[in-house]
Amino acid sequence: MNINYYQPVCVKFGKGIVKDLGKLMKEKNLDKALMIADPFIEKSGLAEQISKAADGRVLAIISEVEPNPTIQNIDACAKKAKETGAECVIAVGGGSAMDCAKSTAIAVKNGCTGEDLIHGFDFHEALPLIAVPTTAGTGSEVTAGAVISDKAKGMKVAIFGDAIFATLAVIDPELTYSCPPSVTARSGIDVIAHALDAMTSVKANLITDTLAIQAASLAFQNLEQAVEHEEDENARNNMSLACVMAGLAFSQTGTTGSHACSYILTSKYHIPHGEACAFTLDHWFRENAKVKPELEAYSRNMGFESVEALCEKIHFLKEKFGFKITLSDAGILEEDLEEIVVSSMSSGNMTNNIAQIGANGVRKLFMNLI
Ligand SMILES: NC(=O)c1ccc[n+]([C@@H]2O[C@H](COP(=O)([O-])OP(=O)(O)OC[C@H]3O[C@@H](n4cnc5c(N)ncnc54)[C@H](O)[C@@H]3O)[C@@H](O)[C@H]2O)c1
Ligand SMILES: [Fe+2]
Repeated sequence: MNINYYQPVCVKFGKGIVKDLGKLMKEKNLDKALMIADPFIEKSGLAEQISKAADGRVLAIISEVEPNPTIQNIDACAKKAKETGAECVIAVGGGSAMDCAKSTAIAVKNGCTGEDLIHGFDFHEALPLIAVPTTAGTGSEVTAGAVISDKAKGMKVAIFGDAIFATLAVIDPELTYSCPPSVTARSGIDVIAHALDAMTSVKANLITDTLAIQAASLAFQNLEQAVEHEEDENARNNMSLACVMAGLAFSQTGTTGSHACSYILTSKYHIPHGEACAFTLDHWFRENAKVKPELEAYSRNMGFESVEALCEKIHFLKEKFGFKITLSDAGILEEDLEEIVVSSMSSGNMTNNIAQIGANGVRKLFMNLI
């Protein structure tokens, strides 16, 4: 058995740990930072507090980040980084702020634009990055990917490269406590999607499966509680832990069918990322179980009687959280399906999926959602 596991991110996890940011930066010799913050995090004053915790190591804060960050967001942040002479980047926010910061770190180091990046610019270097997540969802703090959008062209593309692994991930679950139930639900289902996708990747191995099983178990046990009882710190902390563990799994395997089908659902139908992944997640897990029989035993390890019971739980969560479940909920007409199938099939995540069901299989999967 040959296994490659490459994970260079220094992970610091704990409630209140962001207060040590200055000390953690000093240990890694990181200084002169541009902070790229989620707009909510800046408005709430948290960005300023975190900047203070960095003990004078933050040169400026910019919060020009939209959900599903755009190539224009990247250019604005890169311009600010150059003006201030930033030598590293701190991302404070959800996946959108982290992916914008990752892309900015590449753009500044290589002198390229957001547009270059979305069209496949080849990069091998980036400014050092400190990732401080404020949602429990994407795991971007430990992955080598960033998802960026060109909204004018309806494009949403994932870019990859070892250079965009963060140097330091400071995961303080307390920063997620202000997420409203809708954000907790969507980002939490993204955690489950990352874990199940990791298990159904052609690159899955026993290390990533073990991380993914534990991540999904924790998320299934805590997500409803974190959504319905915002004040339950234990549930929130467990969601942050599940998020980073799922991230550690899919940082090696990549994601699969549910993510491949999600991009057009977000870029064209404006369904937020986690909800867009959930749209086909249960259907993909059923398909994948046909080619990976271990998923039955894995489902039992995750606390379910069977693959079917796990899939029913996902469906139950989608209903409970008010997610879109059918094509008509999502505003998708039958004649739109061809474009969705073509887009889903063209995503690199699709070839990474263990069940190769082809365009016909994907069309059938969507037809079941009528
Ligand atoms: N790079 C990766 O590995 C990876 C993996 C999965 C998803 N993604 C990408 O990440 C993005 C989604 O990220 P996300 O789900 O974290 O959401 P997000 O970053 O888009 O944020 C969603 C909303 O939550 C708000 N928010 C964030 N933190 C908050 C807090 N603590 N309190 C209150 N509100 C808060 C934001 O202002 C925003 O309105 C998508 O673009 C997706 O494609 C990246
Ligand atoms: Fe995701």
